[in-house]
Amino acid sequence: MNGKKKMKFGNMKQDLLTYYEKRAKEYELIYQKPERQSDLTQLHDYLKTAFENKKVLEIACGTGYWTKTIAETCSFILATDINASVLAIAKTKNYDSGLVEFEELDFWLLENENNTYDSVFGGFIWSHILKKNLPRFLTILQNQLIANGELIFIDNKYVEGSNTPIARTDADGNTYQIRKLENGTEYEVLKNFPTMDEVKDLIRDMNLEMKWMELDYYWILKLIESR
Ligand SMILES: C[S@@+](CC[C@H](N)C(=O)[O-])C[C@H]1O[C@@H](n2cnc3c(N)ncnc32)[C@H](O)[C@@H]1O
Repeated sequence: MNGKKKMKFGNMKQDLLTYYEKRAKEYELIYQKPERQSDLTQLHDYLKTAFENKKVLEIACGTGYWTKTIAETCSFILATDINASVLAIAKTKNYDSGLVEFEELDFWLLENENNTYDSVFGGFIWSHILKKNLPRFLTILQNQLIANGELIFIDNKYVEGSNTPIARTDADGNTYQIRKLENGTEYEVLKNFPTMDEVKDLIRDMNLEMKWMELDYYWILKLIESR
């Protein structure tokens, strides 16, 4: 995840960034799974309410699928991603508010003290962070918030038959899937499925209050700064 370093795992490509760069055009097919439509409607509604009138920093925005929803109610959103190929797609969308800006940005390189955003949003990125890097990830994002600001994450629950099976678990408990693009190329992708208790443990010593919600296929995590 950190930087653009490529790794090989046997014959399998193991580079998350290349995987998402190559998957850009087919990325949103994941949002067409029939069994997930009711949950997705709930997620869209949740995000519209959560970011109403907020100044939002979105990390790892991908093709702007959630940016579009958040832009319906927020006061401003800076949508960022490390991959130019997904940002190019995000920029082709129509955004209701006209208050959307894009930037090519590696969130690991965000400045330490920014403190200007009401909210930071990360959709389906938590699952791609190594467990040992989560404290640093949260600290970096927390540093972008005004006092009492909020971090909001959404991501997948593991549901047998709907998710790609877990192919491997490493010594730290990180789980990996083998993902195939339409052209047949296979990648081994880090994909963790955290539980509420794991997140509780993780934030125990951080100045964050936690709200955890589960739908059938997704979880929603809100972390409220208390400085
Ligand atoms: C699973 S996709 C999620 C895209 C979008 N948030 C969504 O939910 O539809 C993960 C995204 O994270 C981006 N990404 C991975 N590492 C990143 C980093 N260090 N900084 C910024 N973006 C990153 C990838 O380019 C990819 O677009």
